[in-house]
Amino acid sequence: MLSENMTEALNGQINKEMYSAYLYMDMSAHCTYEGLGGFANWFMVQYQEEMSHAMKIYDYINEQGGKVVLNAIEKPPGTFGTPLEMFEATLKHEQFITKSIHELVELAYEEKDYATQIFLQWFVTEQIEEEANDNELIAKLKLVGNDGNGLFMLDRELEARSFVPPATE
Ligand code: FEO
Repeated sequence: MLSENMTEALNGQINKEMYSAYLYMDMSAHCTYEGLGGFANWFMVQYQEEMSHAMKIYDYINEQGGKVVLNAIEKPPGTFGTPLEMFEATLKHEQFITKSIHELVELAYEEKDYATQIFLQWFVTEQIEEEANDNELIAKLKLVGNDGNGLFMLDRELEARSFVPPATE
């Protein structure tokens, strides 16, 4: 059983995950336009991950007898800078999402909502991985600098990423 407060907060998180998906879809389109197919693939896989995060929360609210409420999704920026600037923006966005997840955990503790505390643990761990992935790519892009060959090689590496749906517990 979810409190009204918790239901509203979880619905807010669905919206944030949907915006994340929209943002990465937008970044993917930008990379495709710029001829960076591997980067476009990486961001499209990220889009799929974010959709699965939103659905995980959607299913949880339903399972707990709560009411899912969908709100408008904010428009993503549409224009982006270099690949390095895109990953710096991605990391910043993921840090915002991590903070939001931690606030949900705090609310679950305050409300002694043990089920939601357990449910959110998956997201706490996932955020560590998301930020680590971004930090790794930022480091690689800094190494590459203005070297076109390096960027080409990295683009090929990112072509290999594929979406693995999260395990259903
Ligand atoms: Fe669903 Fe990238 O946080």
